[in-house]
Amino acid sequence: MGNYNIELTADDVAFYQENGYWIAPKLFSDEELAAFREHHLQVVQGKYNTLFTPPGRIGWEPEPITSLVKIDYAYMADSTLAKLVLSERIGRIAAQLAQVSGIRLWHDQLLHKPPQKGKQANAVGWHQDYHYWQCSDASNMLTAWVALVDVDEQNGCVEMVPGSHKWGLLGASDFFDQDLDALQKKIEAVSGKPFETAPMNLKAGQVSFHHCLTIHGSRPNQTDAPRVSMVAHMMPDGARYRAGTDADAHYNVGLLSGKDGDPFAGPHFPVIYGEGSRNVWATG
Ligand SMILES: [Fe+2]
Repeated sequence: MGNYNIELTADDVAFYQENGYWIAPKLFSDEELAAFREHHLQVVQGKYNTLFTPPGRIGWEPEPITSLVKIDYAYMADSTLAKLVLSERIGRIAAQLAQVSGIRLWHDQLLHKPPQKGKQANAVGWHQDYHYWQCSDASNMLTAWVALVDVDEQNGCVEMVPGSHKWGLLGASDFFDQDLDALQKKIEAVSGKPFETAPMNLKAGQVSFHHCLTIHGSRPNQTDAPRVSMVAHMMPDGARYRAGTDADAHYNVGLLSGKDGDPFAGPHFPVIYGEGSRNVWATG
């Protein structure tokens, strides 16, 4: 087994700070990836190996799956996927990129993007993740996007807008908008900046990290096989609930069940890296 505990260089961190994303080498073995793919498919099919049902599920249709399946909190429903999104390998890199000592899970996201047939909704509109997370006071949250199969522009990999994390929160995000060109024009009008994207071409097991203000999205899958991935959305340990924002309906606000200023902590927001009560499922 390889060494998957990556120490970043100063240049790596500088690249992230300049561009708002960074691509990690392969972080998981072929055996781990095979297990992740198997459990990913089970959750897509509605087979859960815990007592929990994922509360956030979009795409619930009989086989064959024809539009994007997005399942938030999949890790609660499957203990193997929990090992993936709670992996210290991911948390360690996130802490180095965000320059913080502790990282907690905000929530995860399972994505299954089937081959495009016709006009199904298989693109992900340009968006800034923090648009949906303003109920957190931490504007340096970040995401790990884990490729479980090879991804590139053919099967609709994520595309990032380099440097866009420095443009502030633009208010024009729409994950579900399928007209990427029109959405791009809208965002360009708000930001006053030209818009170019960098494709996150990843081999299975590689992970791209992005800042929560980095504009990103993805185009439809033009191949014959599904694009399969898991996402870990993360926050610095100590992030607090900010009440009264447009994101007050976020499911995490309900999970916290707290008041303005309370830290997002406790069992629903497990520590992935750093001090504190380590989660029991973490992969070293
Ligand atoms: Fe996103």
